[in-house]
Amino acid sequence: AVVAALTALAPSPFVIAHRGASAYAPEHTRDAYALALSQGADYVEQDLGLTRDRVLVCLHDLSLERTTNVEEVFPDRATVERVGDKDVRRWYVDDFTLEEVRRLDAGSWFDAAFKGAKVMTFQDAIDLVKGRAGIFPELKGPERLRAKGLSLEDAVVSALERNGLTDATINGRPAVWLQSFEEQSLRTLARRLPRIPRTFLIGTPDAAQRWLTPAGLREMRAFVTGIGPARPILEARPAMVAEAHAAGLTVVPWTFRARRGAAAEAATATTDMRRFTETYGVDGLFTDNPDLFPRPRR
Ligand code: G3P
Ligand code: CA
Repeated sequence: AVVAALTALAPSPFVIAHRGASAYAPEHTRDAYALALSQGADYVEQDLGLTRDRVLVCLHDLSLERTTNVEEVFPDRATVERVGDKDVRRWYVDDFTLEEVRRLDAGSWFDAAFKGAKVMTFQDAIDLVKGRAGIFPELKGPERLRAKGLSLEDAVVSALERNGLTDATINGRPAVWLQSFEEQSLRTLARRLPRIPRTFLIGTPDAAQRWLTPAGLREMRAFVTGIGPARPILEARPAMVAEAHAAGLTVVPWTFRARRGAAAEAATATTDMRRFTETYGVDGLFTDNPDLFPRPRR
């Protein structure tokens, strides 16, 4: 009876729509975010970068060529970089104004049915999601912007303040949850936005070795409230959930996904998510398929 009572009190695990419902619609577009909301996502994730005129936009990569037709619209605006013995052309978003970014098609690369989808600003995302779900912004490439004299942290703090989101809740959870792979960014956010939860993303074996130890977990409490390990890192050692919880830290692994229309993959994704939530006890998780998230059996 005690266990049942405690289970009833424990907050249910939450689902974060990774780049929106990005299995079904082009990542970080209005379609992907709207679908995430209709599929019951508790949070919608934004990866954030800055345009040349310092507007926050929702984009996973630092450059535009994977998810837009920038190469066709601005063929002469690439930065050429030497990678190994090859020249690689990249269209960094921070070299383009918002007006230029808005001219791009961010949907066709995914499926012709989404032709004409636009890159969203962070403000667009807030306007769409606020009051319906939480937002889960990640600061992408802060060091690159710092080197150009720009501050992604300042931009995010201003946006959240402007939208009254520094201390908001939704459905009993924080309405905003920040995340980054970069310690320096997270330390800045801890100072500037102490009431907003901050997740330290851990993506490599080196980072896991550095931080996912009793001493590392204790140390990171100075600047984060939780960890976001890549799924294989957690799968290799599920006991890390209890260790993080004992240190007062939340755990939100990434990423669970199944391709559109792939029934067997969908079943596996749901089974995997159930194992992580019910057996390992994670607080929430990132998935491209919020519709496959198994709600707790209570
Ligand atoms: O933010 C969690 C997860 O999204 C980190 O990986 O590359 O998809 O941003 P990435
Ligand atoms: Ca992310």
